[in-house]
Amino acid sequence: MKRFFISVLVLLTAVSLPAQKFTGLAKTPPMGWNSWNKFHCDVSEELIMKMADAMVSSGMKDAGYEYIVIDDCWQVSRDENGEIVVDPERFPHGMKYLADYIHSKGLKFGIYSSAGTVTCQRRPGSRGYEFQDARTYARWGVDYLKYDWCGSSTQNAKASYTLMRDALFKAGRPIVFSICEWGSNNPWEWGAEVGHLWRTTGDISDNWNSMISIFEKQKDLARYAGPDGWNDPDMLEVGNGGMTYEEYKTHFSLWCMLAAPLIAGNDLSNMTPETKSILMNKEMIAVNQDTLGVQATCYRDDYGYQIWVKPLANNEKAVCLLNRSDEKKSILVNFEELARIRTMVRRFRPPTGTAGTSATGAARMGPPAQAGAAGAPAPGVAVTPPQGFGGQRPPQLTLADYRIRDLWEHKDLTLKETSVYIELLPHTVKVYKFIRK
Ligand code: GLA
Repeated sequence: MKRFFISVLVLLTAVSLPAQKFTGLAKTPPMGWNSWNKFHCDVSEELIMKMADAMVSSGMKDAGYEYIVIDDCWQVSRDENGEIVVDPERFPHGMKYLADYIHSKGLKFGIYSSAGTVTCQRRPGSRGYEFQDARTYARWGVDYLKYDWCGSSTQNAKASYTLMRDALFKAGRPIVFSICEWGSNNPWEWGAEVGHLWRTTGDISDNWNSMISIFEKQKDLARYAGPDGWNDPDMLEVGNGGMTYEEYKTHFSLWCMLAAPLIAGNDLSNMTPETKSILMNKEMIAVNQDTLGVQATCYRDDYGYQIWVKPLANNEKAVCLLNRSDEKKSILVNFEELARIRTMVRRFRPPTGTAGTSATGAARMGPPAQAGAAGAPAPGVAVTPPQGFGGQRPPQLTLADYRIRDLWEHKDLTLKETSVYIELLPHTVKVYKFIRK
């Protein structure tokens, strides 16, 4: 009964307010699973139920993964009333049944469509049917919509995604809105008003070069990410077989550092212990899910060897050493210097803030990378008190204030010297968390 009244309240609020995005649905990057990377069009009710079961039995749910998202190919046509028709052979009981099943497991249900006339696999898109489809999704119990850009021809991206945002709002069910226009129209500049995450690049493939080149493209985007609006470098390939164990560890670490959505894309019912140890590395996940919600920035870039820093709540930080080259590297790492990096949080949010977006902070490092943190903010850049810093530059801490934890070895470092040589094999990372003593 109580739930009924809450639903009525949400609905009344939705119809009486000007359309906007549902806020607060993705305070930390969304976590879940999506069918595309592994199964492509081979989706069915049976498969999705199996994945939901495996999400629970494997421990993925306990590790924080929540959404089960069916990507392209669940839809076949529209009926005479314009209603989207679910493939009756592959989904014999329809979507409401599947949503109920997923919800009964304590998970959430996601679906896919496109802003254009067709999806990328030439199934019917939502163009011209936005409000009808949004009502349908709400009726089925959808919690997450990935909205693609195929079949969009000359459509305006921001307007098209805003239309679906408004349709979802009017339909009255809070649905995470995942913008998937491949970074073609600078979605980081308008995405936070419209949705909760936005793809920043074309599709990932299951190999090192694809993964690392997508990662590179995130370098200048940190200031656009934050609670309720995340850069999305695409779904995870961990466990799909095209990279080595070490490369998958790197892939996962980098996505955690980027505060990227963690959407697994492998067969959850058939995971090796290695795959599980990566996807369920809870210490790495905690870095990704940190409440400060700041994406890592590059502190040093030196011939394929990079240092990335992600500020965390409570003036803690995660530091990732990356060897993206094909040669072994031995690097002198100065932990005192890393401990002393002070972070200023400055985050871009569209100036109008019409969509209930609040301005909260992106990372700016202390010297040497971006010493200009004290400069006046550019238009549209809001500087707000980052959590725990009281709006000031964070206090100067030193190595003595922290213990340093290796997030893959799962143990604290014992440093004999403040500067230590660290060996990094090709394509590998070390991730350290600086934890306040
Ligand atoms: C596009 C998207 C992918 C996937 C496919 C499905 O390529 O970027 O993530 O959804 O469409 O057809």
